[in-house]
Amino acid sequence: MPYCEPVPAPLALCRQVEERESREMTAAPTMYTKRDLRERLDRLPRIHLAALPTPLDDLTRLSDALGGPRILMKREDLTGLAMGGNKIREFEYSIAQAVEAGCDVLLHGAAAQSNQSRQTAAVAAKLGLKAVQIGRLDAHAQPQGNLLLAHLFGAEIHLSAAGDQSAAVEAKMAELRAGGHKPFNTSSDGYVYRGIAYVDGFLELWDQLRQRGIAADAIYVCSGAHTHVGLVVAARALGVDLPV
Ligand SMILES: Cc1ncc(COP(=O)(O)O)c(C=O)c1O
Repeated sequence: MPYCEPVPAPLALCRQVEERESREMTAAPTMYTKRDLRERLDRLPRIHLAALPTPLDDLTRLSDALGGPRILMKREDLTGLAMGGNKIREFEYSIAQAVEAGCDVLLHGAAAQSNQSRQTAAVAAKLGLKAVQIGRLDAHAQPQGNLLLAHLFGAEIHLSAAGDQSAAVEAKMAELRAGGHKPFNTSSDGYVYRGIAYVDGFLELWDQLRQRGIAADAIYVCSGAHTHVGLVVAARALGVDLPV
């Protein structure tokens, strides 16, 4: 595109972020370049678990069916390990620092069919660590789906009544410590790393959009909290006015 042509606002914004990278930071101290964010991310321990970058698919038939805007889907279901999902990005950071700190057991306490329990068991199997799952005895506590997969990945599985679950987690952590283990609780100790991982995820998405010359109007994410936080932090840090 010739430089003199007017560009749509989001593309102009992309260009501003790119241009800031090629010179020293003179902008407001709360503004960062992609390189700044990358440097900060690179200071953290990280292990390779995910198949990145995940694809960015054009949902042309959905857009046609809706008679609406161009819709793209960032395929976070394809992060690779044990049926993907957002936890694998988190675990690249959270479990890296746990392993560096000498942890040898990954424990997770959640719903019986928790995705994160399944992923905890899979990552433990991949890294040669012990996995323990303290699942809830809820309506889905049958040996199928994620619970069956966690079992197949070699996790030690306990199911406890909802009211007893926290105590069961604490008791198991204490038992493991008493047995000379160093457990890491992936259901409570690592959430901040999911936000951090999705700062990285935002940079990845941003590059894909840039490479394809796409000026996104908004990002929609199905999130409880942490994934959303990471995307918002990255967008705000870069000074990108993109609703998330
Ligand atoms: C498939 C899937 N998507 C989204 C979420 C929500 O993640 P977050 O809390 O990071 O938004 C979860 C689990 O918490 C999940 O398993």
